[in-house]
Formats: sequence, structure tokens, C-alpha cells
Amino acid sequence: MKVAVRYYTKTGNTKRLAEAIASAVGADALPISVPVTEKTDILFLGNSYYAFSIDPEVRDFARTLKKDNVGRIVNFGSAAMLNSTFKKVKAEADKVGIPMDEREFHCKGEFKGLHKGRPNDADLAQAAAFAKSIVG
Ligand SMILES: Cc1cc2nc3c(=O)[nH]c(=O)nc-3n(C[C@H](O)[C@H](O)[C@H](O)COP(=O)(O)O)c2cc1C
Repeated sequence: MKVAVRYYTKTGNTKRLAEAIASAVGADALPISVPVTEKTDILFLGNSYYAFSIDPEVRDFARTLKKDNVGRIVNFGSAAMLNSTFKKVKAEADKVGIPMDEREFHCKGEFKGLHKGRPNDADLAQAAAFAKSIVG
């Protein structure tokens, strides 16, 4: 099974989650500036909320994905207050016809003194275990 990991980060939290996930599944954690050109069964896509939405760069990245290349998307990320970006990412995935796995990883992410140190070691371990359970 071919697995790819892409992430978008502003303050480093999603990068740390991406690295934990990538090392658990034997892939590289790459930023979304690196396009997905090879056929991939599972694309782990890390992203977060910024001012109640996903970053426009994440939307633009999703629009570059080809359904013939990407089997499904698995969402992961963190946020300070909101729960999950799943619906926002799914709206983009729907536009390019790529299914979203209903399972995702989400945890609290440090922001302006809130949730200090998150994602912490326990979060990273849970993200790694989640990724392994997806890949099987
Ligand atoms: C500019 C900015 C805006 C944010 N807006 C929100 C928000 O609207 N809702 C929320 O729950 N978290 C918000 N956050 C918190 C981030 O989602 C959280 O810190 C996340 O862990 C950041 O991931 P990153 O370090 O990979 O960018 C915001 C963070 C930043 C930097």
C-alpha cells in the first residue's frame, strides 16, 4: 500500500503531528508545497483552523489532487477551540471526487497560551497509533 503525508502549518504543530504519522507508516512528512504526483492509496493530510477556516493554501492544494492518483484522504490536525476541519476538507475533496476516510485524528493545539505544549508526547503517540490503525 502506497502512503503519502502532506501538511500545512503556521506554527509547527501540524508538522510535528505529520512527522509522528509519517514515521509510524514509513513515509516522509512533506509540506503541501510538494505536489502528489505518484499514485497513492492513502493521503494523510494535516491542516488546522485559522480564523474559523482552513488556510486557502490547503484549499488550493486539494484542488491539485487527481482522483486517479489518490485513493482516499485521511484528515489530521489540531486546533485551539474548534473540533475538526473534516467538513471543510471534505468539501474540497468532493470537488475533485476523492473520498475522505471517516476516521481522522484531531487533538488540541497550542495557541496564544492556550493548551501549552500541545500536541504533546501523548498526542504524538496517539497520532502514530491512529496512522498505524489506518494503514493496517
Ligand atoms: C492565525 C491563527 C488563527 C487561528 N484561528 C483559530 C480558530 O479560528 N479556531 C481554532 O480553534 N483555532 C485557531 N487557531 C489555533 C490553531 O488551529 C492551532 O494553534 C493549531 O495547532 C495550529 O497548527 P499549526 O501550528 O500547524 O499552524 C489559530 C491559530 C493561528 C496561528
